[in-house]
Amino acid sequence: MVNKTEKIRRRYNRISLLYDVLERPMERMSTSWRCDIMTEVFGNVLEVGVGTGKNIPYYPEKVEVVAIDFSPKMLNRARSRYGKIYRNVTFLEMDAQKLQFPDNTFDSVLTTCVFCSVPIPVQGMKEIRRVCKPGGRIVMLEHVRSEKKLLGPLMNLLNPIPLYLYGANINRDTVGNLREAGFSNIRVTDLWLDIFKKIIVINVK
Ligand SMILES: C[S@@+](CC[C@H](N)C(=O)[O-])C[C@H]1O[C@@H](n2cnc3c(N)ncnc32)[C@H](O)[C@@H]1O
Repeated sequence: MVNKTEKIRRRYNRISLLYDVLERPMERMSTSWRCDIMTEVFGNVLEVGVGTGKNIPYYPEKVEVVAIDFSPKMLNRARSRYGKIYRNVTFLEMDAQKLQFPDNTFDSVLTTCVFCSVPIPVQGMKEIRRVCKPGGRIVMLEHVRSEKKLLGPLMNLLNPIPLYLYGANINRDTVGNLREAGFSNIRVTDLWLDIFKKIIVINVK
């Protein structure tokens, strides 16, 4: 039987060729968000779920980046597009739920639209907490389930569609999951309705 993680990995492999086209309608809005969150990262950075590499051009010059993804086809698109241009970025195939780095390795961890898909999100967040240094910063741009009376249940109802097509859920409680993973110093800013959020966490250990 194919396990949960393998199932989602296969969905991202399947969508990898179309991913950028499907994301295009969001691009104008998301590009300004991507630029904005880059002001928060520093030092050596782990990007989790780099996908096709949409954040890569926006990193500040001085940072060193390790960019991981568990979908080899998504990762290959990022690597072939940016690998030769941005020498400060290393691309690695890796599962966020089982990070192959020692404790306290990174100053910053960046995720954009990733924790909608990580199959066991709290496990992935615990791993991020482990590999981020004490006092380090977790910088996230994530979409979550709305708390609004009609919209929230509608997102639950529609969730099977993106989950089947992409492997992404539109009804995750990412801030709640961060708390469950042991994070406490969480600053949340709504970017679009109460769905798209900028989340900054200081890693207190
Ligand atoms: C919706 S895409 C977002 C890609 C990119 N961050 C962006 O903003 O365009 C989600 C990405 O997270 C990756 N992903 C999901 N679960 C993962 C896991 N457990 N480990 C590593 N990557 C994962 C998927 O393969 C996919 O590339």
